[in-house]
Amino acid sequence: MPLGVVDFVDSTTLDDFARWQHDIYDEEPETKDVPRYGGPEEARRQADQCLDIAREHGLITPSWLGVRCREVTDMLAPLPGESVLDVGCSVGMVLNSMNAIYGTSGVGIDFSRAAVGAASAYNPCGNDYYVADALKLPIKDAAFDIVVSYGVIEHVSDPVRMVQEIARVLKPGGRVLIYTPCRNDTWSWHWWQRVTSGERYDLGVEKLWGHDRERFLSPPQLASYLEGAGLTRVDTIVVHTLYTLMFDEMLPGAVFLLLRRPRVFRAVRRMLDLADALPNDRGYGNEFLAVGWKL
Ligand SMILES: C[S@@+](CC[C@H](N)C(=O)[O-])C[C@H]1O[C@@H](n2cnc3c(N)ncnc32)[C@H](O)[C@@H]1O
Repeated sequence: MPLGVVDFVDSTTLDDFARWQHDIYDEEPETKDVPRYGGPEEARRQADQCLDIAREHGLITPSWLGVRCREVTDMLAPLPGESVLDVGCSVGMVLNSMNAIYGTSGVGIDFSRAAVGAASAYNPCGNDYYVADALKLPIKDAAFDIVVSYGVIEHVSDPVRMVQEIARVLKPGGRVLIYTPCRNDTWSWHWWQRVTSGERYDLGVEKLWGHDRERFLSPPQLASYLEGAGLTRVDTIVVHTLYTLMFDEMLPGAVFLLLRRPRVFRAVRRMLDLADALPNDRGYGNEFLAVGWKL
């Protein structure tokens, strides 16, 4: 970890579940093959790729999913100069994309020292990164305009507490976006893969990367946590059902080619959206995004 990275986590106080997560995400890239960011060079490559795509196409993440994430983030109407906290930021890709698209300023926290070290070592947008626990944010009340958290709430031992912490650090008028796997993924591409392989093929979701399907939330469940923490205008948007997830996994990068041909992109988009509309309306999907506002 580079000098200057501030670490607020006392790893001796983590419970068993948090320790399991911590061990997965805090592996040293040089010694283990586990972290997604795969070491400083890979982290730099991914950060640059993400930034290029955010600048050229306005996507939050470099995939078809990124199109939906952009639309949902637009619902929060981020303004230039507003402060964004990314809870479980890993190497800061979402913060960088938001910097590029909206001109926001970013702070990222993650309890993986390896991730925060990599984010700090290559920090093209000048964000601030800290090692911290999502359940105990070392942040004063009402500090941020926007809080985002992608793929983290399913990794924490107490999701209600995490939502309360997020609500606490939001300013009045602040907005939150949480992205997480959907508990009911019936009809999704991953569901079909599991069913047709007799549950053996789970795309590594089970256990790998600290995923435990039993802990996945449903959209109404997360909505109730957000409302319980005092947030209003709560909404959930199911994404990545059958076709878009298939598209992202079987033709990665094809979305960028399509985006260069807006009319073709709009036609393909209409087809995929139509095909996924019924399961999504019923709350079935591989993942969902939840948004809310603090009064
Ligand atoms: C699946 S990764 C997602 C990373 C990033 N948000 C993204 O979308 O690429 C989950 C991240 O959550 C972090 N994490 C898990 N539990 C955490 C906790 N209690 N506090 C802070 N970060 C946590 C992990 O270290 C890891 O970087």
